[in-house]
Amino acid sequence: MYTPAITGSGVFTPSNVITNDELVESFNAYVDLYNAENAEAIAAGEVAAKEHSSAEFIFKASGIEQRYVLDKEGVLDPKRMYPHFRQRSDDEPGIMTEIALDACQKALAAAGRTGEEVDLVICAASNMERAYPAVAIEIQQALGAGGFGFDMNVACSSATFGIQAAADMVRSGSIRCAIVVNPEITSGHLEWRDRDCHFIFGDVATAVVIERAEDAKGDHFIVHSTRCATQFSNNIRNNNGFLRRTRPDGVADRRDMQFMQNGRKVFKEVVPMVSAHILAHMEEEGRSADQLSRMWLHQANKGMNDFIGKKVLGRVPEKGEQPNILQDYANTSSAGSIIAFSKYSDDMAKGDIGLICSFGAGYSVGSVIVEKA
Ligand code: COA
Repeated sequence: MYTPAITGSGVFTPSNVITNDELVESFNAYVDLYNAENAEAIAAGEVAAKEHSSAEFIFKASGIEQRYVLDKEGVLDPKRMYPHFRQRSDDEPGIMTEIALDACQKALAAAGRTGEEVDLVICAASNMERAYPAVAIEIQQALGAGGFGFDMNVACSSATFGIQAAADMVRSGSIRCAIVVNPEITSGHLEWRDRDCHFIFGDVATAVVIERAEDAKGDHFIVHSTRCATQFSNNIRNNNGFLRRTRPDGVADRRDMQFMQNGRKVFKEVVPMVSAHILAHMEEEGRSADQLSRMWLHQANKGMNDFIGKKVLGRVPEKGEQPNILQDYANTSSAGSIIAFSKYSDDMAKGDIGLICSFGAGYSVGSVIVEKA
């Protein structure tokens, strides 16, 4: 048995930013257009008028201040409200591969490794741009990696589930060096015209390199243990993929292919599930919460993270103990906890213990206990 370690991480951040004010301005323009177009039906009580969104609500309800997206123009066009993604030819790299590659190269550089030294690529994300061939295999080829690759989808928990899979393989010796990459193009999946959720997501890609601790070339984090759990819930889902239904009038409904949630229920049900999961994982490891120097939590909602942090530590976390990045990135699905880890781990001292935790649709929750070495 070998000891697995995270030896490098990397983040690709798109160059386009959408602030809450910009988002709300375009959303409200869409609402005004919709209400004008449907004025008669609204007046007759046949159609409900849509309501304006507000930047104050968004910040208060979520802690989000802005988000990065691959295409800003399409998202903010009140007559369109979804991104423009150029259809690529079969011979071009896919859009997920393109952003994944950037994150992988940064993670490999941090680990002092090259693509050829990788023998497992796991592309773990909420949405795949196609079912097959696996996006991971395209990334494997682009990196010049050997071995094998496969895709995993556990929604927002994909990163930690991917880390568990890779760490277990490193531990057993079936692979030597893995890259777990999370290209999250949430902007194609979000209904930007739905006031209840239009502010939630942003685009990003993250990657971590996992290899034997004995092979590490520099600073690294030993992966002590991982725990994954799932419990079925309908509160975060998309109803149709390629088997999409048509409405009785024969029109294909794009909304049915996109993200839906019952945000209140998610908040209430997931927070206790995650805190209990983390505490049980710590206990099974024989560790108490006061031994935790840092928690890198999934980044969906500041209120949720505040609750979880307080429940796990038994007190309000001190500044720096539970870094949030969602104010800048919004919810980036599986990538959120890894952005936090990548940006807020360099300063940790040898022997410091930290915990990466992601959670979301499924429901699903995954935790990884690491130690700075
Ligand atoms: N602008 C202004 N008001 C809005 C609004 C918007 N964009 N969206 C909703 N509101 C209104 C609602 O209509 C509601 O009004 P009412 O009280 O008159 O009915 C009120 O604000 C509260 O809505 P609610 O949905 O209860 O808000 P909330 O405080 O629960 O916050 C979320 C919404 C989504 C931010 C929050 O529930 C959340 O983060 N949940 C967890 C989400 C999550 O982690 N999902 C995982 C995704 S992978």
